Amino acid sequence: VTVVVRAATSEDVDTVVALRLEFLDAVRGPAPRPSDDDFTDRTRSFVAAEQRAGRLHTWLAEEGSHPVGIVSLLVWPRPPLPEDERTADAYVINMYVSPAHRRRGIGRRLLDRCLGSAGELGIKRFQLHSTSDGRQLYESLGFAPSSTWMELPVPP
Ligand SMILES: CC(C)(COP(=O)(O)OP(=O)(O)OC[C@H]1O[C@@H](n2cnc3c(N)ncnc32)[C@H](O)[C@@H]1OP(=O)(O)O)[C@@H](O)C(=O)NCCC(=O)NCCS
Repeated sequence: VTVVVRAATSEDVDTVVALRLEFLDAVRGPAPRPSDDDFTDRTRSFVAAEQRAGRLHTWLAEEGSHPVGIVSLLVWPRPPLPEDERTADAYVINMYVSPAHRRRGIGRRLLDRCLGSAGELGIKRFQLHSTSDGRQLYESLGFAPSSTWMELPVPP
């Protein structure tokens, strides 16, 4: 069966949430969550609101009508520079292909589509945090570590 990659719509919120939860279990380990229903609801509210606001863009890979992969972009504004009028940066999240479908190029196809939206969305720079699974794929598409990016986690 062929795998089709397409942009998610407002109809796909539940699919996006389900794949996001699978993604979290894959990268963090299936840790029991204190109240799963509550967390799922909060994730669904976030996805629906950010998608509606045009800040969350998602692509799905489907085999028939069965979702097998996902990638999303969180887009945020940045001020223009004198030499560059683009006013958005984007953070790549939710890069996930279900285990049985890996190593068939689906991750690359999803990421290609996602990066291909740069012109349309006015994106100047993509950023992400990589897992060891994702590193090769990101490097092969031109991602490199930044030596200037700093971060300060704020305690809860
Ligand atoms: C990272 C991830 C999304 C990659 O998905 P994928 O569909 O397997 O990706 P691809 O098939 O496009 O490429 C992965 C590898 O398969 C290889 N590959 C691609 N097509 C292939 C094929 N037809 N036959 C064999 N190998 C193939 C690629 O060369 C690549 O190899 P490399 O890692 O040695 O460079 C997937 O491993 C995953 O979901 N991991 C868990 C979640 C995660 O860590 N996500 C990244 C968060 S930052």
